[in-house]
Amino acid sequence: MAGRKITLIFSLVAIFSKGLTTVIQTQQTVLAAVGEDAEFSCQLLETKDVLQVTWQKISHDVETNVATFSKYFGQKVNTDFTVKFGFKYTGLQNCSIVIRNVTEQDEGCYRCLFNTYPEGSFIGRTCLQVYELHEPVVDVRESNSTEEWVVSCSATGRPAPTVTLSVSQQDLNFSQYNTVSVSNTNATFTVTTTAVLSGSRKHSTQVGCAARVLSAPHREVMVTIPDDDDDELDEKSGSNPRNLGIRISIILSCVALVVCIAAVIFVGYRTTCQSRTGPS
Ligand SMILES: *[C@@H]1O[C@H](CO)[C@@H](O)[C@H](O)[C@H]1NC(C)=O
Ligand SMILES: *[C@@H]1O[C@H](CO)[C@@H](O)[C@H](O)[C@H]1NC(C)=O
Ligand SMILES: *[C@@H]1O[C@H](CO)[C@@H](O)[C@H](O)[C@H]1NC(C)=O
Ligand SMILES: *[C@@H]1O[C@H](CO)[C@@H](O)[C@H](O)[C@H]1NC(C)=O
Ligand SMILES: *[C@@H]1O[C@H](CO)[C@@H](O)[C@H](O)[C@H]1NC(C)=O
Repeated sequence: MAGRKITLIFSLVAIFSKGLTTVIQTQQTVLAAVGEDAEFSCQLLETKDVLQVTWQKISHDVETNVATFSKYFGQKVNTDFTVKFGFKYTGLQNCSIVIRNVTEQDEGCYRCLFNTYPEGSFIGRTCLQVYELHEPVVDVRESNSTEEWVVSCSATGRPAPTVTLSVSQQDLNFSQYNTVSVSNTNATFTVTTTAVLSGSRKHSTQVGCAARVLSAPHREVMVTIPDDDDDELDEKSGSNPRNLGIRISIILSCVALVVCIAAVIFVGYRTTCQSRTGPS
C-alpha cells in the first residue's frame, strides 16, 4: 500500500516536471488589443500517443474546460464558450485556438493539456494580456513669444500609455515637460504631455507624438508647423493673435474690394448715362 502511494507521487512529480520543461512549445504571453482576435498555439515537441487535447481557462485558480479535440470526437467547444472561442488548427501534436473580439474579461491564463497514454497530461500555459490604445491627439499653440510653441498631446489607453513628443528639426528643443494622467471610469487612462518647443524655425517643422502601452505597436501622429512665411497653422485655435490678425486683414481686403467694384460700377453707370444724354 505504502509502495503504491510512493510510485503515484513519483509519477505525479514526473508529469509535473515534464509540464514545466520545454516539451510543449507555446507563447508565454499573448498581447491583444481590445476588439482583436487572439490566437494561442501549443505544440508537443516529442511524439506521444495523444488521446485528446484540452484547452482550459484559469480564473481565480479554477480551471474550466473551454474546448477539446480528439481523434474520435473531433473539435468540441463547450457551450458557454462557443461565441468567443474557436479552433484555428487542430492536431494531436499541434493545436491552436482563437479568442474572438477580446475584451478585458478574456484576460488571464489558459492551459493546453495533451492527454497521453500512459504518461498522463503534458501541460502548456499561456497568459493573455489585453490592452487598449487610441490614437493620440496633438495640439500646437503659438506662445506669445514668436520662437516658442506649446505642444500638447493626449492618449487614452489601458494600462496608462507613455506619451513621447519628437520634433524633426534638430535645433528645436522641447522643455518644461509636464505630464498628467487621468483615470477614466472604464479602467483606461488619459495621459497628456505638454512641453514648450523653442528655437528658431528655418523651414516648416514636423512635430510627432507617439503613444505606447506594453510591447504593443505604438500609435503615432505627426502635425506640421508651417514656415514662418506661410503662417497659417492648421488648427482650430481662433484665439491665436496672429491668426486673428490675418483674418482681420483678409476681411479688410474684402471690404476694400467690394468698395472698389461698387465705385467702378457707379462710375461706369454714370459714364453710360452721360454718353446717352450727351448727343441729344
Ligand atoms: C504547428 O502550428 C503552428 C501554428 O499553428 C505552425 O506554425 C507549425 O508549423 C506547426 N507545426 C507542425 C509540426 O505542424
Ligand atoms: C465585440 O465585443 C463588444 C463587447 O462585448 C461588442 O460590443 C461588439 O459588438 C463585438 N464586436 C464584434 C465584431 O463581435
Ligand atoms: C505670455 O503672456 C502671459 C500673460 O500675458 C505672461 O504671463 C507669460 O509670462 C508670457 N509668456 C512668455 C513666454 O512670454
Ligand atoms: C474608455 O474610456 C475612454 C475615455 O472616456 C474612451 O475614449 C474609450 O473609448 C473607452 N474604451 C472602451 C473600450 O469603451
Ligand atoms: C537644442 O539642443 C541642441 C542639442 O542638444 C543644442 O545644440 C541647441 O543649442 C539647443 N537649442 C536650444 C534653442 O536650446
